[in-house]
Amino acid sequence: MGKVTKAVIPAAGYGMRFLPVTKAIPKEMLPIVDTPTIEYIVRECVDAGITDILIIVSANKNSIINHFDRNFELEYKLKEKHKDKEFDEITELLKKVNIFFVRQKELIGLGHAVLCAKSFAGNDPFALLLGDDLWRCRKPAIKQLIEAYEKVDAPVLGVKVVDPKDVSSYGICKTADDEKLSLVLDLVEKPKVEEAPSRKAISGRYILTPDIFTYLETQGRGAGNEIQLTDAIKRLSVTKPVYSYELTGKRYDIGSVVGFVEATLDYCLSRNDIKEAVQDLINDKAKK
Ligand code: G1P
Repeated sequence: MGKVTKAVIPAAGYGMRFLPVTKAIPKEMLPIVDTPTIEYIVRECVDAGITDILIIVSANKNSIINHFDRNFELEYKLKEKHKDKEFDEITELLKKVNIFFVRQKELIGLGHAVLCAKSFAGNDPFALLLGDDLWRCRKPAIKQLIEAYEKVDAPVLGVKVVDPKDVSSYGICKTADDEKLSLVLDLVEKPKVEEAPSRKAISGRYILTPDIFTYLETQGRGAGNEIQLTDAIKRLSVTKPVYSYELTGKRYDIGSVVGFVEATLDYCLSRNDIKEAVQDLINDKAKK
């Protein structure tokens, strides 16, 4: 069994739930407090021992590429002004991981985006992290899945139980039992509530094996007239075992405005440098 050292982060989408800001700014660059959302995802990978990351971008997403590049002029100025903390903040991450980019030429679905990672993955298993799902966990969400993968030596989908009213926003798994790690029996992308086989929703974290690409290459359009990753995984699961793993931690849907605000508040309140000031603001506003 190959060790999971590669990760893929699709970041090509339009961000239609977050207009008008996403007209010119990639949604992945919107900050939670002072850090772009995609940097949290990259840090999650690094904390899980990932050494190589492929970010799938599209036209209009060059600021993501710039964010993960050196900025020598800024570094020079920070050094000159003895701003060592800020200098470290913008340089230390890039020393820990190799980041590659590829452009998805046509935005026709998550399955198609993942197919752009075929040569990057080669013969290796890889982690897949979706930028709309931010996980705050004691053990990084993707690390939890890597450990599950090491037990079963098969693809693992990170899931979370959601409210019935929300099942139509997710890929939903039917599993063999209610264990944390469980064999997937069926998968449906964005089912109507009455057709959902369970409430176990795929939640933006996966460990996949390279055999997924064979299915993605021949995958027709599905929900939303898009090439859906869930549909390709469902076909894969007919020929070999695929597992779901119930992640432990707090998940934010930062592709939605309310989820984004909740993440912003929680991250503020977990930061020693600002938490008191922010808590005072909240208390103050609650009184009015
Ligand atoms: C994608 C996947 C879906 C998954 C969701 C959250 O949907 O297609 O299966 O449940 O992410 O991780 P999207 O939110 O991009 O429409």
